[in-house]
Amino acid sequence: MKKLVILSGAGMSAESGIRTFREAGGLWEEYDVTEVASPMGWAKDRELVLRFYNERRRQLETCKPNAGHYGVAALEKYFDVHVITQNIDNLHERAGSTRVLHLHGELTKARSVAHPELIYDIGYKDIKIGDTCEKGAQLRPHIVWFGEAVPMMDEAMRISSTADIFVVIGSSLNVYPAAGLIEYAPPGASLWLIDPNEVYVPARLNVEVIREKASAGVEILTKRLLHSEGKC
Ligand code: APR
Repeated sequence: MKKLVILSGAGMSAESGIRTFREAGGLWEEYDVTEVASPMGWAKDRELVLRFYNERRRQLETCKPNAGHYGVAALEKYFDVHVITQNIDNLHERAGSTRVLHLHGELTKARSVAHPELIYDIGYKDIKIGDTCEKGAQLRPHIVWFGEAVPMMDEAMRISSTADIFVVIGSSLNVYPAAGLIEYAPPGASLWLIDPNEVYVPARLNVEVIREKASAGVEILTKRLLHSEGKC
């Protein structure tokens, strides 16, 4: 089976009702990223940071995967699919994808500020000041904030460097190191991008662009891949 790597971003979940970050009406228009998503913000006002992620987590409980997530999961029938997502939601998993790597963390997990190896599944519950790990240290969202290292990056580079097909879905490719993963796909891999808006990718990469939302785009991608693989 060919290895199909999907790099998804906020646009993947937009049709599920989750706001993207950098478009008009995006989250970073309403919130100051350094206040809510950085170690500095956490040091300054932990209540504000917890409230921001508690709201995101509560909202996630009410959202459902969209046709794009289901379409990505269905590709496992034909390809060895690895999803690398920048999203902190769990919609890929809920749609049935079995190999999902979360580059920027997960909303439904909390971790100890003093013992980062202590990570807890919290589902859709709030994290409050005073919620602690078993060693007594405060819990924080299990999120990679701006200015923090991306622990899953080595694994993501390894997966990307063995891709036969690499597809970016719904990411403005503004945030590194995630945005650089497409460059790790080996020469000869076929590269695709699904986004209703223009996203800059270097012309030398020869990326096939499907200018559609995730739901329609994944359907088109699937048809084109199956056709070129002689599977339909
Ligand atoms: N389907 C597909 N793509 C869409 C859709 C849709 N329905 N709606 C919007 N998009 C596209 C936008 O055109 C844009 O290119 O999704 C992209 C969203 O870009 P960003 O908001 O920048 O999100 P993302 O690239 O995931 O951001 C990366 O930045 O703030 C951080 O940590 C956060 O993981 C996030 C990272």
